[in-house]
Amino acid sequence: MYYGHNPKFPDNFMWGASSAAWQVEGGVADGGRTPAIIDLNSKTKKPFADNTYAADHYHHYKEDVALMAECGFSSYRFSLSWSRIIPHADGKVNPEGIAFYNDLINELVAHNITPIITLYHYDLPVWVDELGGWKSRDTVERFEHYCRVCFENFGDRVKYWLSLNEQNMQICYGNWLGVSKGCDDWFKDQWKINHIMNLCHAKAVNACHEMVAGGKIGPVPGCVPIYPETCRPEDQIAAMNAEEFTEKFWIDTYVYGEYSNFIKHYWKENDIDIGMQPGDAELMKSAKIDFIAVNCYRSNVAKYAPHDAKQQDYLLNKNGVKGQMVFPVEPGRYALTRNPYVEYTDWDWEIDPSCLRYEMRYLWDHYHLPMMITENGYGAHETKDADGQVHDQGRIDYLREHIYQLGMAIEDGCEVIAYNPWSFTDLLSTGNGMAKRYGLVYIDTTDEEQNAAKSVEELSMKRIRKDSFYWYSKLIRSNGQDWGKEMLK
Ligand code: BG6
Repeated sequence: MYYGHNPKFPDNFMWGASSAAWQVEGGVADGGRTPAIIDLNSKTKKPFADNTYAADHYHHYKEDVALMAECGFSSYRFSLSWSRIIPHADGKVNPEGIAFYNDLINELVAHNITPIITLYHYDLPVWVDELGGWKSRDTVERFEHYCRVCFENFGDRVKYWLSLNEQNMQICYGNWLGVSKGCDDWFKDQWKINHIMNLCHAKAVNACHEMVAGGKIGPVPGCVPIYPETCRPEDQIAAMNAEEFTEKFWIDTYVYGEYSNFIKHYWKENDIDIGMQPGDAELMKSAKIDFIAVNCYRSNVAKYAPHDAKQQDYLLNKNGVKGQMVFPVEPGRYALTRNPYVEYTDWDWEIDPSCLRYEMRYLWDHYHLPMMITENGYGAHETKDADGQVHDQGRIDYLREHIYQLGMAIEDGCEVIAYNPWSFTDLLSTGNGMAKRYGLVYIDTTDEEQNAAKSVEELSMKRIRKDSFYWYSKLIRSNGQDWGKEMLK
């Protein structure tokens, strides 16, 4: 659809950026925090930095919020560290953890920045893991207790809540994110764990509605639009299969509060028992979400995979040297393949601005719920130039084209309330530490420096506004009008 004018964003549209506790905070042993499974996971990924220091936001939060305000933010999406708030198995609330997040929230509110909080972003406390972790149904009760503590302490000022970050990716890439640790039969166990996560999500939704006056809550699926490779009918079905098994099934479950016939049939065919118990169906059905938060960076292409094809795991690019990605083959379901029509990042992620328009249209058509972008962004190798500045034209190009397509989706009639790209400052990438940078603000530190440091005081951690910071500031201060170049084609 061509409109003959640039897109317009709603007057109260929220512009900001995004982060997650373990990727940005550092201060892992400060203020009474205890370890999370992701700490241990990130330590095994040497030579990349673990999360001991990250971007040291724990000690720099005031400076970081001041920079957000300078940029013109009206929202900031971040997560809370469960083990900072409830550090031990006795379930007692840690006053220092509460104080840290109260200070951060107060600082945001004082700068007219709306906090959008993720309750869970990959950092299960080790004490929960030791009690059975995601394999144990007791985790549902523990998670509900944690959520209630958050709503009670922060719900007076925080009205937008997100349940679990990318539950679909945690299940699809269980090994990568540490969820499959200790499972004997991941093929079957993943669905039990997924069910427990659904119960956690439902408990969070209901507790938010019960405890937070005017509170709204939604899930955060990781969304990757899937295009068929050709108009061959088998490729179209393969694209639908890939969509079901990587994201659609999860979003359907959140929205409808029940499992689809498609997935129930798949479980039956494969003799999978997800551990449904009396009361679970009612709980899931009762949890009505208010919006869908969307993480969307890229698209994928699917093609037919015969039932006797050779199975291939998805091998992600882990070093930022182009061409390392190996696409998966799921015999009888789908195979993913390269898209010749788009560019790729150094980590072999498709650069496809239209994927945002597609995803918004897709979700709006299917579910008719408001949406907010909680992640979208450009991961790149970056260093300071000779002038001490960071000239990240690649990120400006990425953001400009993606935000433009988001605006076109709004013109198409989609209800989108916020854009929060990944990330505000540089922070740890899930697998590539500081080597893969996403920020509008450069953090003056490297994996090598962090690995060598004995304490955070040895690290500069200086904040340097990148070129994208200035470009984004102009765009958001004009509510999406000042693109910095002629856009209408
Ligand atoms: C999202 C996650 O899927 O992708 C973030 O929610 C993550 O935690 C982001 O950092 C980018 O991925 P990566 O692997 O480049 O860090």
